[in-house]
Amino acid sequence: MSNRIIVLGIETSCDETAAAVVDDDRRILANEVLSQIDDHTPFGGVVPEVAARAHLELIDGVIERALEKAGITLNDLDAVAATGGPGLIGGVLVGVMTAKAIAAVKGCPFIAVNHLEGHALTARLTDDVAFPYLLLLVSGGHCQLLVVEGVGRYTRLGTTIDDALGEAFDKTAKMLGLGFPGGPAVEKTAQAGDGNRFPLPRPLKGRPGSDFSFSGLKTKVRQTIEALPPGDLLDQDVADLCASFQVAAGDVLADRVGNALARFRDLYPDIDTPVLVVAGGVAANQVIRARLQSLSSGKGFQFIAPPPNLCTDNGAMIAWAGIEKLRLGDTDAMNFRPRPRWPLDPDAAPAAGVKA
Ligand code: KG4
Ligand code: ZN
Repeated sequence: MSNRIIVLGIETSCDETAAAVVDDDRRILANEVLSQIDDHTPFGGVVPEVAARAHLELIDGVIERALEKAGITLNDLDAVAATGGPGLIGGVLVGVMTAKAIAAVKGCPFIAVNHLEGHALTARLTDDVAFPYLLLLVSGGHCQLLVVEGVGRYTRLGTTIDDALGEAFDKTAKMLGLGFPGGPAVEKTAQAGDGNRFPLPRPLKGRPGSDFSFSGLKTKVRQTIEALPPGDLLDQDVADLCASFQVAAGDVLADRVGNALARFRDLYPDIDTPVLVVAGGVAANQVIRARLQSLSSGKGFQFIAPPPNLCTDNGAMIAWAGIEKLRLGDTDAMNFRPRPRWPLDPDAAPAAGVKA
């Protein structure tokens, strides 16, 4: 028997049914992600009830495939981790119930992982980053700046006061008829566009602090579309709007993150080369990554972005967070109840209209 720890991670909080096997040497032995895009496309967005049913249908097969690819059986697992929230409750229930069942049958620990913590700790799986570091978490449901002090220890420096950035990407794509999910579609379309053509707002830019706002940007995209000549949008208009949106979003991020870098320096003056980590689905965007990279190097920060397939939702991040928690003896009882809302920093002051 080796001392190696092997954990199965299950992610079902949105529209990806995912399972992965990871060990404590930071090796990803399998990482299976089944997207439900085809189920949701006719509705132009994720339908919670459809997602829950699809998770139920897919989860067993996804786990089987992950175990097979990893070359292990359930008997080799040291623990089973599943996203316990925040997210669409029907899907979270499916993952949690499945994980509990495996843990109960195999007599190994069950670990409920905060989905946001899964994103937050991914850079420790991929790059072995030491605590503390500054984290920009940009996904479909969240847009936050956090100091990651340790497992389960977060201080929020800023959050969105309206939409998350991923949501703004998705809504922009929908208005332009680019389909769902919008982020990758906007990024691809923007490659042929002129980012300076449309003057879009940079909400909160130049203001103190690190909160975000994206709803004004989204509204201006709609008004810009309405101001174009009636009829079908030209491909060039669509590309220019995507590019202009992306540049504006990058400007806002750079401004807000810039303030957070300064704040992090104040908090930890003794760290010579502090680290900025970006995580969450929007972190898969190459234009945004490049923007944050140049901001970081200009301010003496090391910039770390996990590979794009580990930025968007996946089971490996849940398995890894499970390993981190297991090492600390932080496992969960069988009566754990899924949490539709589960802030990383429960002490953060609520900002007006904020999604925690
Ligand atoms: O982290 P994630 O997979 O799920 C949530 O936890 O929300 O993030 C999904 C979000 C969606 O809004 C999607 O449009 C966005 O991330 N996204 C992107 C890109 N890939 C995914 N946004 C911009 N550019 C991308 N390449
Ligand atoms: Zn996510």
